[in-house]
Amino acid sequence: MASGYFKRFRMAADLLRPRCPASLPTGYRFVPWNEALIETHARTKFKSFRDEIDAIVFPCLGDLDGCRRLMREIREKPGFLPIATWLIVRGDVRGGLQSLDWCGTIQGVIDESGCGSIQNIGIVPGHRGLGLGTALIERALAGFRDWGIGRATLEVTADNGGAVRLYERLGFRRQRTVYKVVDHVGDRSGFAATVPLAAGPAPGAW
Ligand SMILES: CC(C)(COP(=O)(O)OP(=O)(O)OC[C@H]1O[C@@H](n2cnc3c(N)ncnc32)[C@H](O)[C@@H]1OP(=O)(O)O)[C@@H](O)C(=O)NCCC(=O)NCCS
Repeated sequence: MASGYFKRFRMAADLLRPRCPASLPTGYRFVPWNEALIETHARTKFKSFRDEIDAIVFPCLGDLDGCRRLMREIREKPGFLPIATWLIVRGDVRGGLQSLDWCGTIQGVIDESGCGSIQNIGIVPGHRGLGLGTALIERALAGFRDWGIGRATLEVTADNGGAVRLYERLGFRRQRTVYKVVDHVGDRSGFAATVPLAAGPAPGAW
C-alpha cells in the first residue's frame, strides 16, 4: 500500500488576552482528571477518532488498545497537567454508571518550552456541533492559565477543516507547517495523503 505525507499546522494562542468562560449546553457537564478515568479517556478518544482523518495519520487513534497506550504515555509525561485534562459527560450517576454518556475528552501537557500543549481533543459523533469542542478547549486553556502558562500550542492535520476553523475561532494562529510520514495510507479508504511518497522527498518544514 502507498505511503505519503500529511500536511499539519502547528498553531499557537496567547492565553493572556481575555477569553470567554467555558459553558456547556444543558445536560452536559465537565469531569476533572482522576486516575480512575484513564480508561474512560481512552474509550472516548477511540470513539471520537476512529473514523476520522487523524486515525490515518496516527493509526493508534483508530484502535482502542492504541488509545489506551497513548493515554498511558500522555499520563506519564513529566509535564502532564491534570487541570488541563477533562472529560464531558451527559447523564446523571444517580441513573447508574451505565446511563452515563461520555461525549468528549481533552488532555493538556506542559512542553519543554513551558507552553501548554493540547494533546488530543475529541468529541464523539452525535454530540458535535453543539459547542462541546469549543467548551472543552476553553476549559483546558483555563487550566493552563490557572497554572501560570501564557501560551498554548497544538498540531492539527491541514485537511481537518472543521478542527482548523475551530482553533482559529478560538484565537490559535498558524506558526509553521510540518509533514508527517504515514505508511499504508491506502489501507483505509476516504482519506488521501497530501503528498504521495512517490512524488519525492517530504517538503521541508517551514
Ligand atoms: C473537531 C471537533 C473536536 C469539534 O467538536 P465540536 O463539538 O463539533 O465543536 P463545536 O460544536 O464547538 O464547533 C463546531 C461547529 O459547531 C458550531 N457551533 C458551536 N457552538 C454551537 C452551538 N451552540 N450550536 C450549534 N452549532 C454550534 C461552530 O460554529 C462550529 O462550526 P464551524 O465548523 O463552522 O466552525 C470534533 O469534530 C471532533 O472530535 N473531530 C474528530 C476528532 C478530531 O479531529 N479532533 C481534532 C484533532 S486536532
